[in-house]
Amino acid sequence: MANQTAYEQLQQRLVSKQSTWLVTGVAGFIGSNLLETLLKLNQKVVGLDNFSTGFQHNLDEVENLVSEQQWQDFTFIEGDIRNPEDCGKACDGADYVLHQAALGSVPRSIVDPSTTNANNITGFLNMLVAARDARVKRFVYAASSSTYGDHPDLPKVEDKIGNPLSPYAVTKLVDELYANVFARTYDFKSIGLRYFNIFGRRQDPDGAYAAVIPKWFAGMIQGKELFINGDGSTSRDFCYIDNCVQANLLAAVAENEEAVDQVYNVAFGQRTSLNELFGLIRSRVQASYPQAADLEPEYRDFRAGDVLHSLADIGKAKTLLSYNPEYSIESGLDEAAEWYLTHLAE
Ligand SMILES: NC(=O)c1ccc[n+]([C@@H]2O[C@H](COP(=O)([O-])OP(=O)(O)OC[C@H]3O[C@@H](n4cnc5c(N)ncnc54)[C@H](O)[C@@H]3O)[C@@H](O)[C@H]2O)c1
Repeated sequence: MANQTAYEQLQQRLVSKQSTWLVTGVAGFIGSNLLETLLKLNQKVVGLDNFSTGFQHNLDEVENLVSEQQWQDFTFIEGDIRNPEDCGKACDGADYVLHQAALGSVPRSIVDPSTTNANNITGFLNMLVAARDARVKRFVYAASSSTYGDHPDLPKVEDKIGNPLSPYAVTKLVDELYANVFARTYDFKSIGLRYFNIFGRRQDPDGAYAAVIPKWFAGMIQGKELFINGDGSTSRDFCYIDNCVQANLLAAVAENEEAVDQVYNVAFGQRTSLNELFGLIRSRVQASYPQAADLEPEYRDFRAGDVLHSLADIGKAKTLLSYNPEYSIESGLDEAAEWYLTHLAE
């Protein structure tokens, strides 16, 4: 036991005791990974999704990765967090809620702020009310590094935020404010996880709002044009999905009073520029597609609403949640490459 990490100990505890988890956004990238881990730990999972940006094929893939018995512990509700009844039904009987459902993407929110607002603020509030009424043990929610907005400090520390730079960032900030007010007014305590550019298996490579890592894997494998917005010096703290899953599970069961009603950075704690990232992905694709060696990105304008640099201080999550990210960007990209190379090959 002495050499085990807090996460390893938690996984052992979970396997021997079944609880019920609600994962919203379960057909999406992060939600389907939470589902996979929880089912493999013999937990009961209720999933809620409206398939707006999630896919049945993500659920099918998880079904293939778990045992028949484990899959029977999963109940799927096709529903919408904008509908309070769906939220109530999903929260009924849940011990823990991992709330991931939202419309991601800064550019999408600039094109259509009202729809982002309805999903990310009204939907979030509906979930808070339903989880409070269902008296769940813990509500963990997906917050975002976009909340740091125009604050210039690097690395980002949780209590120093600037002005939001996009409608999406406003919604994620409002979610934190609501969560905090629910703690004050109803003693309903939650934990917000400010994700920093999460990547890995099942992250959607298609569509106008795809994230850079899946888009580049797909582009290099399928020979599409590859763009860098700006001069490539833009940097991010890219974080592999298994680190994010770990943070969610640790946050759900954290018992320390000090750890609750807090927000945490979820990242690896290392900055990588887009130019560096391009090289890291190209070298991994090249192993199977030698012609990728010649690929170069096309540079175009910086994107509105994007911050130039992002890097997390992960000290708070390490101290209060015993978060210990196992995957660096390099080892995470190795895993992601394996998945994209098998799933996107034509
Ligand atoms: N991926 C990242 O790097 C990142 C970074 C910061 C924050 N986040 C947040 O993490 C969460 C999960 O993101 P993701 O990357 O897995 O995105 P995703 O788009 O793959 O998953 C979101 C899921 O939520 C579902 N959904 C959306 N609106 C819904 C609604 N009204 N009712 C029910 N289901 C709904 C979608 O269908 C989808 O399956 C989101 O809250 C996002 O804002 C993600």
